[in-house]
Amino acid sequence: MKIYLLSIVLLSALCFQAQSQTREIQALKDWRFYNGDAELASQSGFDDSSWEKVTVPHDWAIKGPFDKDIDKQVVRIEQNNETVATEKTGRTGALPFIGVGWYRTNVSVAEVNSGKQIILAFDGAMSNAEVFVNGKKVGNRPYGYSYFYFDITDELQAGKENVIAVRLENQAFSSRWYPGAGIYRKVNLIIKDAVSFKHWGHYITTPYIGNGLAKINIKSQVQGDNVVIKTTLRDANGKVVAENMVSQRFGDEIEQNISLDNPEIWGTDSPYLYTATLELHQGGVLKDTEEIRFGVRDIKYSRENGFELNGEVVKFKGVCLHHDLGPLGIAINRAALKRQLTILKDLGVNAIRSSHNMPSIEQLELCDEMGFMFLAESFDEWKKPKVKNGYNLYFDEWAEKDIVDLVHATRNHPSIVMWSAGNEVPDQHGSAGVKRAKWIQDIFHREDPTRPVTVGMDQVQNAMANGFGAILDVPGLNYRLPLYEEAYELFPQGFILGSETASTVSSRGVYKFPVEKGPNKTYDDYQSSSYDLEYCSWSNIPEDDFVWQDDKPWVIGEFVWTGFDYLGEPTPYDDYWPSRSSYFGILDLAGIPKDRYYLYRSRWNTEDETLHMLPHWNWEGREGEKTPVFVYTNYSSAELFVNGKSQGIQKKDSTSNLHRYRLMWMDVVYEPGEIRVVAFDDSGNEVAEKSIKTAGKPHRILLEADRETISADGEDLSFVTATIVDKDGIPVPHAMNRLDFEVTGNGSFKAVCNGDATSLEMFHLPTMKVFNGKLVVIVQASEKAGDIKLKVKGKGLKASELKLSSQN
Ligand code: GAL
Repeated sequence: MKIYLLSIVLLSALCFQAQSQTREIQALKDWRFYNGDAELASQSGFDDSSWEKVTVPHDWAIKGPFDKDIDKQVVRIEQNNETVATEKTGRTGALPFIGVGWYRTNVSVAEVNSGKQIILAFDGAMSNAEVFVNGKKVGNRPYGYSYFYFDITDELQAGKENVIAVRLENQAFSSRWYPGAGIYRKVNLIIKDAVSFKHWGHYITTPYIGNGLAKINIKSQVQGDNVVIKTTLRDANGKVVAENMVSQRFGDEIEQNISLDNPEIWGTDSPYLYTATLELHQGGVLKDTEEIRFGVRDIKYSRENGFELNGEVVKFKGVCLHHDLGPLGIAINRAALKRQLTILKDLGVNAIRSSHNMPSIEQLELCDEMGFMFLAESFDEWKKPKVKNGYNLYFDEWAEKDIVDLVHATRNHPSIVMWSAGNEVPDQHGSAGVKRAKWIQDIFHREDPTRPVTVGMDQVQNAMANGFGAILDVPGLNYRLPLYEEAYELFPQGFILGSETASTVSSRGVYKFPVEKGPNKTYDDYQSSSYDLEYCSWSNIPEDDFVWQDDKPWVIGEFVWTGFDYLGEPTPYDDYWPSRSSYFGILDLAGIPKDRYYLYRSRWNTEDETLHMLPHWNWEGREGEKTPVFVYTNYSSAELFVNGKSQGIQKKDSTSNLHRYRLMWMDVVYEPGEIRVVAFDDSGNEVAEKSIKTAGKPHRILLEADRETISADGEDLSFVTATIVDKDGIPVPHAMNRLDFEVTGNGSFKAVCNGDATSLEMFHLPTMKVFNGKLVVIVQASEKAGDIKLKVKGKGLKASELKLSSQN
């Protein structure tokens, strides 16, 4: 009876208090920036009025200019099987990321030291961050991909402008790709009561799902005596589905198990999310509130079935992604991330690997919402270096903290189904490395016993011999297809993951003759062929992976290198200039699909039809020459016609890996006109057709936006693809016209990209040449709602206009 009465009193107090505001989060967006070192810049009285005004997230290096000498590395890349050192230009993007950058901003707080706690939280700063408040150093964080925070309660003064200053420094020879530069993810000032939840203090798991019930386990770290937690679980419509109140405490932790009836399950097709509202009360007073989204889902890895999501065997149809957003650099933007994921959904991708570092929080939130599984990676290096100034410099001091913070900051995301402790770490060699692997994996297990750990291994022979691969929860093989069978036999886990696959290279719209499969091919124009037959000494064409994925139940999936092209690592042109971004992407740097997109789509997207033909049909000068035609389709056979003449029927068969997945007409003789493909279903009925026509001269510019209505929040983006077409509207595949852009109304020109890895034109200037007939121009909304007009002009072309709009 007593307990019952107490609950009534408490509950009514809770209802009343829930109205009050308990924590304030200020997003620190407006900063002053200086690219260089500045004495006394940490001090309050320093005059920064001449510094550039910037908005965070910010990448100070993306505006270039590109320069061959930036981070030129004369190296022998061991991972690429090189035997001699050569000069590598463009390896890290040839953009000016090296050196020091300072950021300063002011914050004011109403009260401090009156029972408040103030946290300054960074989602990431590139790199070697040193943070000062009113001239006093509050901490540092070397690794540019880590989330980190400081308690700055004691440094702030109420009622005055407090100065936050951040010094960053990027070293040469510190990366194998474009790392970017600056405060490139969000920064929050969190003002809360000292009696509150600890930062990243909640850990929500769903240890039991069955019989129309899920057990929701929530562990919360709390600060303050005699506190009570009231929890409300809401479904996706905001309806309350469960409530709980608990005060039993074990040290700083309060744990609750809440039963949720008839739970909706989170999966890739139906990414259902619940929200837990956690309130912390002391003496009947509400002190803190946090809302955490979570999903009810079950993951299992077993010798019998490999990987299961919610009781169903699922293979990872994954892509690796670097953290840059092409022309936007590394500055995080939710619309840009969402566009990438929207494209990848259409491709049929079900999983992302954040190679080779911690993902942005925004990307995880989107994966939760859109239904992608996530392999969250931590490092590209441990103690043994790949590059002189890489993570090896920080490993001993920081590795444990970096992992703990990765797990604490992200573990409530249902999308994360696996951790990766490292990528191709040279520590695969030697017994010290094996110990290190065990040590790191144990840290992950200690912090999150619900997810397994992998490492992407390239030294597979070694890892088989010394036990490195055997101790991992999930043995990940990067490439090394000829060793799959042996590794599976030898490793104890009973399955293996293609943690990195393919590394096929191609340039959008470029086709080379003769059409031949082979490694390390290079051409005078520094482009690779889109017949999708070119790869590296260590890698392969997509189909070589498909056969393992399809034929071996113990291969639990693949993560293709890479979904999108990225800045830096211009293999096979690492030692050619100009070349400054990758050729590996299924989509180019602008986010335009290469032909390979349709090869993966034909197998991964099981809902929609894929029927795609290549190359284009503008081969002036190749009349009478053999010009092979390939078709990527989910149908098993098709007939090809050139100007109405049949070239015969091709059928997928198992005579080779290639023939199993693509339809190829190798002897087609070029004549201008039209090629047409007619696809058949398994019973031989004509079910679909596609054609490509020879285009005439460039005539006008076709503009197509990914989204015509965007949010008037000053951040949202519309990605507009510009295609040069002839007078009949046929895309002109060789067009290289220069276009000029003007944005008027309630938006601005943000950036432009054509996907050409050899282009040295800058992304932020409103002019660029199209590459093989296309580019993407990015328009940003202002904070005022209304119309936005994009005008595009080009010499000799009919100008075009596109009306976009923004809404509140
Ligand atoms: C892998 C490596 C990636 C990238 C790729 C290129 O070995 O893990 O970061 O370098 O090769 O093929």
